[in-house]
Amino acid sequence: MSVLVLGGAGYIGSHTVYELIDKGEEVIIADNLQTGYMKAVHPKAKFYKGDIRDKEFLDSLFQKEKPEAVIHFAANSLVGESMVDPLKYYDNNLYGTMVLLKSMVENKIGKIVFSSTAATYGEPENIPILETDKTEPSNTYGETKLAMEKLFKWVAQAHGIKYVSLRYFNACGAHKSGNIGEAHNPETHLIPLILQVPNNKRPEIKIFGDDYDTPDGTCIRDYIHVTDLANAHILAIEYLKKGSQNNIFNLGNGTGFSVKQVIDISRKVTNHSIPAVICPRRAGDPAKLIASSEKAKTVLKWQPIYTDLETIIESAWRWHKNHPDGYEN
Ligand code: UFG
Repeated sequence: MSVLVLGGAGYIGSHTVYELIDKGEEVIIADNLQTGYMKAVHPKAKFYKGDIRDKEFLDSLFQKEKPEAVIHFAANSLVGESMVDPLKYYDNNLYGTMVLLKSMVENKIGKIVFSSTAATYGEPENIPILETDKTEPSNTYGETKLAMEKLFKWVAQAHGIKYVSLRYFNACGAHKSGNIGEAHNPETHLIPLILQVPNNKRPEIKIFGDDYDTPDGTCIRDYIHVTDLANAHILAIEYLKKGSQNNIFNLGNGTGFSVKQVIDISRKVTNHSIPAVICPRRAGDPAKLIASSEKAKTVLKWQPIYTDLETIIESAWRWHKNHPDGYEN
């Protein structure tokens, strides 16, 4: 089978390509390289530079490559940026997906797995969060992903496209080969920012608020290794190939760690004191996000391998230590 990976030069996309190629699949990548990196592209994947908003590009790609399925990562994903530039997010994430679906319908491409997010829930009503819980995003990024899910629902109903939406919790860690890892510019995520301290890239880590209603006052998140996320996409493709129904799944480990706990584990992993300073809360941060991934475990038979945060941070540290500037040097 051949799989087209849109956004295959990005963080989660590149890790999914590595898993697909490990399993002997033929992989085609399309990426506009706005946030992705050529160095993250697996050498055995066929690469096209292009944008999902360019319908002619997509049409010719589908006609030439005739992929059996699509995995769609091509989106902007920074919560803060989405609040100051909402139109960028609606344009790339929602309009881009509309163009993609139009091209898929016209070219009779029937199966797609795409990235969604815990940000579709907003402030959760239950912990752990179930897929059936209320979705009320508190930022533009989450809103565009929720709008994408709804778009898929109606287009699937009208045109018979089969889809799976995967709602990631906090993606982290790096590939075991050491070749690829997390690299965002600007970086806003907790673990890479913490690891910049032992890498002498920043003097300290800022803790955004210690007055939340949690045991140590800092926010709790569910950290899930990027390779575990990658494998869920492959299972989702297999699920669609069996003719199963369209579906939405949470992907997390089901265990919460506070910001302070993540910093403590990082101190242990790096053997560095990692100074931390308490700062005001960051706007829009829910106190606690923990996934129930029972549905993915039961239906997709997904089983995360990296269940221990220390091992996850070790994998991230291996990458950041050797690539202090990400892919840029
Ligand atoms: N944090 C700090 N200091 C920092 C950076 C982050 O204290 O320098 C805190 C945040 O306030 C938050 C936690 O660390 O409490 C995790 O923050 P991240 O930015 O790493 O991740 P988020 O939970 O904000 O965001 C993640 C994904 C988003 C997704 C969101 C869903 O990165 O794509 O979960 O809520 F939208």
